[in-house]
Amino acid sequence: MGEIRVNARGGASGQTDADTRVVGLFEGEALDTPALQALVEAGEAKPRLKSVAVAHDGGTRVLIAGLGKRDEFDAEKARVAAASAVAKAKELATRSLSWEAPTDDPRHAAALVEGTLLRLYEFNQYKSNRDDDENNRTAVESLEIVGDGDLDAAVNEARVRALAQNAARDLQNQPSNVATPEYLANRARELAAAHDALSFEAFERDQIREMNMGAFSAVAQGSDRSPRLIVLRYEGGGSGPHLGFVGKAVTFDTGGISIKPAGKMHEMKFDMSGGAAVIEAMGAIAQLGVPARVTAVVPATENMPSGHAMKPGDIVTAMNGKTIEINNTDAEGRLILADALAYAVDQGAERIVDLATLTGAIVTTLGSTYCGYFSNDDDWYARVEAAGKATGEEGWRLPLHPEYFELTKGQYADLTNSSEARKAASIYAAEFLRQFVDGRPWVHFDIAGVAWGMTRPYVGSGASGFGVRTLIELAETAGG
Ligand code: BES
Ligand code: ZN
Ligand code: ZN
Repeated sequence: MGEIRVNARGGASGQTDADTRVVGLFEGEALDTPALQALVEAGEAKPRLKSVAVAHDGGTRVLIAGLGKRDEFDAEKARVAAASAVAKAKELATRSLSWEAPTDDPRHAAALVEGTLLRLYEFNQYKSNRDDDENNRTAVESLEIVGDGDLDAAVNEARVRALAQNAARDLQNQPSNVATPEYLANRARELAAAHDALSFEAFERDQIREMNMGAFSAVAQGSDRSPRLIVLRYEGGGSGPHLGFVGKAVTFDTGGISIKPAGKMHEMKFDMSGGAAVIEAMGAIAQLGVPARVTAVVPATENMPSGHAMKPGDIVTAMNGKTIEINNTDAEGRLILADALAYAVDQGAERIVDLATLTGAIVTTLGSTYCGYFSNDDDWYARVEAAGKATGEEGWRLPLHPEYFELTKGQYADLTNSSEARKAASIYAAEFLRQFVDGRPWVHFDIAGVAWGMTRPYVGSGASGFGVRTLIELAETAGG
């Protein structure tokens, strides 16, 4: 699908070369073509969001997409409307699509592009009969947005963002026998090779141990595949703070010796979603030439039980000297992030975010609508929250507190990765991570509920690529 051409133009929306034109319909408003307006009056075309009616006008197919009330319209509704329209267009074997921009706000035009490209994403490379599926015989090859004003930049940037998010979804969807730590490192290397301002470095098992990353090493020691500490450095200039983006990439989480039940274990191929979002966001940031300085750190490993695996009760020392009692080998994300965060601090990161599918408890708490946000700094948090809001990837802040911190103290070591108290599990994990950022402004995103299984119409129920758009926005708004 990567091939789709996307462009913006001015002029009359009716005069298009595309085989399918989409016009939006706001509640209480009329369409300017009498034949189309007749469908509105007959009740066939509805202004309700997600409604799509099919009409024909002078040899062109026209989709009438409901947009709701004009004064409640926003970018998120534009994404949803675009997803509904392109789903219908695909059913009708559309090859070229033309959207009449419903407002003159470039952010709405951008959101139409995002909604379309995200909805068109599919992962079927392992289906031998994929061309038999009626929906897959034709592909949407081009998308134009027709509107007044200069939409070129907004539309092009939206294309880059959506394709990066889809690339993250590809990494997520690949099974763990393909998407290994080495595979993720190769993808990061490939992105760096394509952009002068982006450089790549990766460390393997022995080097990770030599860097005194005892917590990361402990998780990796159960696996026969060598882990990678993947580092991408982006030097795009600007005068803003040095940003650190850290992403959990457990390419498969069995739980280790504290093994998970078999039922949903297959879902744990997605336990690298944070790392996938960070890697692909870096590619997009470089492609867009964002004026910012960003260091991305992605610890990648499997979490496996074996004769050489870490065991409950083991005590390890993280890179920053803190000792950790490992009481549950399934709480591995916080172990690899401990060393990755300490490394980001060591590399000079001044404002940090981390993305991790960290706790089952956040799925119970917030479902698949909001990610969990945790922060030690209100100003940095406000920037991050604003970036999330602007992109439609939303989070809800949960508190930190010295009493939660108390829970993380170990019996025999400084910290324990899991306490018997079973209280506030997502906050506990965040309090644990906080011990490794050395007081730098930091926001932790617990994305276990939103990395897959979101039901937004434009991402469906599979891998979502959550976080890519927020990270790009953050580099644009906080990095320069
Ligand atoms: N990768 C899991 C978290 C997870 C669970 C993500 C379900 C998505 C869906 C993480 O490594 C984990 O196993 N966390 C444990 C921690 C516990 C042992 C303290 C959890 O949340 O149960
Ligand atoms: Zn786990
Ligand atoms: Zn995990």
